[in-house]
Amino acid sequence: MRASSRDAGPVSLRLPAFTPAQESLFLTLGGRALDSRLPRPFLGDTMADEIVTKIGYDLSKFPTISTTRVDPRAKVFEIAVRAKRLDEVVRRFVLRHPDAVVLELGAGLDGRVFRVEPPPTVGWYDVDFPQVIALRSQVLPKLANVRSIGADLVEPNWLDELPTDRPTMIVADGLGAFITSHDFVVLLNRLIGHFPSGELAFNAYTTYAIWLLKHSRAMAAIAGDVVNPGFNDPRQPERWADGLELVSEMYLTRAPEVAELPRTWRLASRLAARSQAVSRMVGTVVLRYRF
Ligand SMILES: C[S@@+](CC[C@H](N)C(=O)[O-])C[C@H]1O[C@@H](n2cnc3c(N)ncnc32)[C@H](O)[C@@H]1O
Repeated sequence: MRASSRDAGPVSLRLPAFTPAQESLFLTLGGRALDSRLPRPFLGDTMADEIVTKIGYDLSKFPTISTTRVDPRAKVFEIAVRAKRLDEVVRRFVLRHPDAVVLELGAGLDGRVFRVEPPPTVGWYDVDFPQVIALRSQVLPKLANVRSIGADLVEPNWLDELPTDRPTMIVADGLGAFITSHDFVVLLNRLIGHFPSGELAFNAYTTYAIWLLKHSRAMAAIAGDVVNPGFNDPRQPERWADGLELVSEMYLTRAPEVAELPRTWRLASRLAARSQAVSRMVGTVVLRYRF
């Protein structure tokens, strides 16, 4: 399954004009690319680095990851480790269900399928806006069991293309901030109504995280499309969609990878890790549900 993005061949890389929500894919892609350049990466996604290089994207649009004032490990920790946690959730699911469907919502240019390496019996679907999927098809290698769907997730029809009779792992990394609460609730209900059973995993945005996204100068490139108010109670989605049940809440402040952070960051993280409320507020949280 391992493949290099070079397999996709030479491409003409004139980027379309992206909206801030679409542009945000370069923040996560860039974070994973920078992680892969570390001597001991958290995630080690070298394909992300190949894609950024191939596109020639200017990461200085995202000072959070491009600044030279912050330790290189600390800068990429949240992005790389949350991708790693989500990969693990997906990997465990496809191990238990080799006939599964994996649905990646707001896939951007993420090559999760190349990191997870599911068996070929798994049907993998990456969904993002048509402009993003067009670029994706230029820079990511193709695999027989992977389909890309260019669609606005808020529209209902794209879901018709997906099977309705297979256990399904739904995953979303970095999407939640860009969908209104109303659309998120409608989407959740549509997904749960479409698939017979499965899991849903995503990184949560608390109200504080959303406030930071909107007000931090470092996030100016994407702040304009941050439309979700965030939520603080991980059980809230259970009330939004009947049949959804919280399985686990993973705080990155408590991740084993914290041990590899530089001293000050490590101590701050360990201090925050003592409290659930503080962990939710200052660090990334990955939520996992079953339905
Ligand atoms: C922060 S990026 C994350 C991309 C990717 N998951 C990753 O980890 O690199 C958010 C992604 O969500 C996509 N997105 C946001 N709203 C969407 C919508 N309504 N329909 C489809 N994709 C959407 C954006 O185009 C973007 O690619």
